[in-house]
Amino acid sequence: MSERSNPGVTMSYREMGAGAEDPVILLHAFPLNGRMWEPQVAALAGERRVITPDYPGFGRAPRTPAQPDVRYYAEEVRSLLDRLELERVVLGGLSMGGYVAFECLRLFPERIAALVLADTRPDPDTEEMKESRRELARRVAEEGVGVLAQTQPRRLLCERTLEERPEVVERVKGMILESTPGGVVAALGAMRDRPDSTPLLESIRVPTLVIGGEEDAISTPETMGEMAKKIPHSRHVVLPRAGHLSNLENPEGFNAALGELLRSL
Ligand code: MLT
Repeated sequence: MSERSNPGVTMSYREMGAGAEDPVILLHAFPLNGRMWEPQVAALAGERRVITPDYPGFGRAPRTPAQPDVRYYAEEVRSLLDRLELERVVLGGLSMGGYVAFECLRLFPERIAALVLADTRPDPDTEEMKESRRELARRVAEEGVGVLAQTQPRRLLCERTLEERPEVVERVKGMILESTPGGVVAALGAMRDRPDSTPLLESIRVPTLVIGGEEDAISTPETMGEMAKKIPHSRHVVLPRAGHLSNLENPEGFNAALGELLRSL
């Protein structure tokens, strides 16, 4: 696997694998980084080129310059595609990665060959969610990202993962601690102000995998199912033994569904 920073662009990225088919680019959840996709990279890299960026201020990417909106992250994805000379890709995003993927669809639908929307939702934040993001941003700015390492695993992982898979819990905490307060505060603001993507769903023309954990309390199977119904060429998969980070909690199930999507193209 090679790790690159990207001069002139604020995202760093990892890439692995090769192949004649459209590459796969996977966008990470908040407050993690591209390393969360390691189980998918391992499964796919034998046959496809797989690219996993870090948003500015996360993982190995430099800090974000200003308060961005979700469009900023999508523009960064486009710059990365330009830089790597990728005309078309299979684009996947989990949770915040899905919010960024919706913006990519608005900006450059012609470059997206297929889509994976994992544990994400199209609707914007309620006023209550916005307020809790402001509060969290205040705490992270004052106390640092350690606050998130304490609180987020319980939000992101299902009970069974928390109790029986300490290695997954530690991996998640490790990624959280690689984030910078600036990157986290910026991402919280961008998620808080993201637009409603519900009207976009019926215009999606590419094969789409909608996938999520059975015990995801943030993007519930019901929310994901409603979203899938509005996307013309979609398949909805609910993964058992998984909460919000379904790709890490049930990697076998996730990889099987992703593999099916790729083989169908
Ligand atoms: C994520 O996993 O990216 C976040 O939980 C998304 C959110 O807070 O809306």
